Amino acid sequence: MFSRTSATAALVASLALAGVQAQSVPKFNFGTASADYPGVKSTQRNGPTNPSAPMLNTPINQTSVARLATINSIDDWCTFGPPSNDQPLGNVEGETVAYCTKPRNNARVIPDGTVTGAHFVKTPLYIQLMATGDFTKIGMMPGDEGGELDPHGATNMGNPVGGNVTSNISGEDVFYEEWMNYVSATQICFRICIAGSDLAPTPLECQHELDVMGCNFVMPGNYADGVFDTCDGDSAYPPGLYPQADGSTSTFHQFFTGTYVVNGEVMTYTNGAADQITPTAAYSTPSTSNCKTTSTISNGIRSIVPTTTSSSTMSSSTMTMSSSRSSASSSQPTSSGSSSNSNSSSGASNLAVPALAMVAAGLVGAALF
Ligand SMILES: *[C@@H]1O[C@H](CO)[C@@H](O)[C@H](O)[C@H]1NC(C)=O
Ligand SMILES: *[C@@H]1O[C@H](CO)[C@@H](O)[C@H](O)[C@H]1NC(C)=O
Ligand SMILES: *[C@@H]1O[C@H](CO)[C@@H](O)[C@H](O)[C@H]1NC(C)=O
Ligand SMILES: *[C@@H]1O[C@H](CO)[C@@H](O)[C@H](O)[C@H]1NC(C)=O
Repeated sequence: MFSRTSATAALVASLALAGVQAQSVPKFNFGTASADYPGVKSTQRNGPTNPSAPMLNTPINQTSVARLATINSIDDWCTFGPPSNDQPLGNVEGETVAYCTKPRNNARVIPDGTVTGAHFVKTPLYIQLMATGDFTKIGMMPGDEGGELDPHGATNMGNPVGGNVTSNISGEDVFYEEWMNYVSATQICFRICIAGSDLAPTPLECQHELDVMGCNFVMPGNYADGVFDTCDGDSAYPPGLYPQADGSTSTFHQFFTGTYVVNGEVMTYTNGAADQITPTAAYSTPSTSNCKTTSTISNGIRSIVPTTTSSSTMSSSTMTMSSSRSSASSSQPTSSGSSSNSNSSSGASNLAVPALAMVAAGLVGAALF
């Protein structure tokens, strides 16, 4: 999406505290969701840098520019990340590449020890991966608050351009049309919409306009560090959507302005409104159940990636990391046998925001991005 710096300035300017009102929130009632709903499965061509299909055990190439992300399970997933550590993500969203926990898709492999917590949730409308860790090991600059990747971007060719996403959660590999992936130096979240309904079409449930709001707001869930688990869950309310007491809904649109170029002419657009109220939390955190804890998701890459490489795009921190540990394979923190129980929506994070900006000004920005 956009450089986070400029958008953040606008956001801060419009920041206002919303009234917090703890209450129990009914779960999102989206009707009957179908995997065959329009906009779920992609029927388009695959990106040019990608293998034609997701595949495991491809050769490890830490300078790969492949952009096929697969999210199958707690220990078989990918994220997009910058090709090297020299620029903030906001500057290189279109050029990000896939990094995976396993050698797959001709993509780069996430070094062991990078991910220090991960949570995989399957819901009726989407699957969602949430991870904590040191993502300077996959191209992020230290302290980078990050940005957002999605299948649209400034040219509508995807961010990254030609980026594609699959999952086999349905029992077979499927290319999905709508997804969103937020990455910062310390946090990752990735949602793939695997089903849709009239009340939850995939562009709404995987909407990608809230790129300065961060993972916890856009993809509420469990971001606990040091825990690796897989849960079933309810589907969250669409990002930014706030049901009101009278049965209507209000929608938060992130405020930003920007420019784009059409036939050489610079155009400006406005999304949201400058005087709107910015909510401080997602409407609710969906319940999860049937959680199963995994001890680690290491892949042994230290023993399979050469500790020296001639690659010029390989970052120094990644090289330091991969050469500094030549022995033991897994240094992942392991979960101390917690949470195999269910969790229900936490009232504390529920936020009712009266008079939330109901912005009709989506305009060009909303359509393009
Ligand atoms: C690794 O990927 C880069 C970028 O696609 C490519 O130029 C290079 O040939 C690949 N190296 C190997 C060993 O396949
Ligand atoms: C791959 O990504 C490109 C760019 O976003 C998109 O046009 C195309 O439809 C995608 N193909 C598949 C199979 O998902
Ligand atoms: C998905 O792919 C993984 C390999 O990454 C495989 O182990 C698993 O059985 C597959 N799941 C389904 C449901 O096909
Ligand atoms: C349940 O949710 C609360 C609030 O989000 C969180 O603090 C707690 O760790 C969660 N418990 C489990 C078992 O996931």
